[in-house]
Amino acid sequence: MRFASDNRAGVTPEVLAAVEAEAAHPGGGYGEDRTSHRLTEAFTEVFEREVTVFPVLTGTAANSLALAGLCDPWGAVVCHREAHVLVDEGGAPEFFGGGLRLVPLPDDGPDADRIDAAALDGFLRTAAGGRNDVHQVPLQALTLTNLSELGRSYTAAETAEVAGLAHRAGLGVHLDGARFANAVAGTGESPADLTWRAGVDVMSFGATKNGAIGAEAVIYFDPDRATGFERRRKRGGHLLSKMRFVSAQILGQLSDGNWLVRARRANEAATRLATGLAAAGLASTGPIDGNELFVRTSATEAARWQAAGVECYVDESSGSAPTVRLVTSWSTTDEEVDQLIALAGGDPAREEKA
Ligand SMILES: Cc1ncc(COP(=O)(O)O)c(C=O)c1O
Repeated sequence: MRFASDNRAGVTPEVLAAVEAEAAHPGGGYGEDRTSHRLTEAFTEVFEREVTVFPVLTGTAANSLALAGLCDPWGAVVCHREAHVLVDEGGAPEFFGGGLRLVPLPDDGPDADRIDAAALDGFLRTAAGGRNDVHQVPLQALTLTNLSELGRSYTAAETAEVAGLAHRAGLGVHLDGARFANAVAGTGESPADLTWRAGVDVMSFGATKNGAIGAEAVIYFDPDRATGFERRRKRGGHLLSKMRFVSAQILGQLSDGNWLVRARRANEAATRLATGLAAAGLASTGPIDGNELFVRTSATEAARWQAAGVECYVDESSGSAPTVRLVTSWSTTDEEVDQLIALAGGDPAREEKA
């Protein structure tokens, strides 16, 4: 029962097939190849506008390089206190950004995991109203994550609200889309509505968690903003000589709408799991917008699950009732889900009838 992370899943057949097809012929180096150009065309179709696309290998590199493009080394990026860039990237944004500063919103409002518009507005007003001379660090960018770090989505309207506030204060807007496919599948809103039409300037598009081997892409919605990124990526060691194999993975994933089919499957598995666990008395701590859920249970129960073969992340910082994070993926089966529901004392057959 693999619920620790979607990065534990294997590789989808369509990604493997695309890599195999790529391997069967020679091609250009450093992204100057047919497949990489076709990838840009595919993203142009997905986002309903011309885009500039830069594949890289990791989400950390995508986020860090994108933020470095939006923010000077003497500037700051506003983020959520749970943001992956702040808590899970080992200082890479500061490193790639030449020392830029990440500033978590001091008051996040009622949401534990998403940027709250009122809190952001208050913060930007205070920051803008304060000193902003050569001794200060100017705020230059906002980054938000969809799906969020705790598995919640931002709708297009919610994205537009926070992006609008950021733009009014002169900040560029970055979206960490490590699980963007799950957000699109969950909200049912278009990739365009959730990004550039809502004011996102640049995004990190995640493919790895949705069935690639290791492939992400930095996507600029305004080509003028992409100036210098090519050199930044090279300098950061993410311009692969055989880039076409990274591009092939993402292209394979986008083909025939597979990226959304796979994400929908992951989301369905999470909903099935949440429903079954809730019926067994273990309600999720929040709504299920994508492929992640969190339940609070006793430390003994969490240990019993793990002893029975459940792979999951247990946050023991919350004491005797730890929060258990369960993540589903494109490869999660109903059988795995039902096994965990049964282990928790639920009746998987109820989900079948429902
Ligand atoms: C929200 C978020 N952003 C970015 C990443 C990308 O990280 P990595 O550098 O491990 O590919 C992850 C992976 O866990 C993530 O959850």
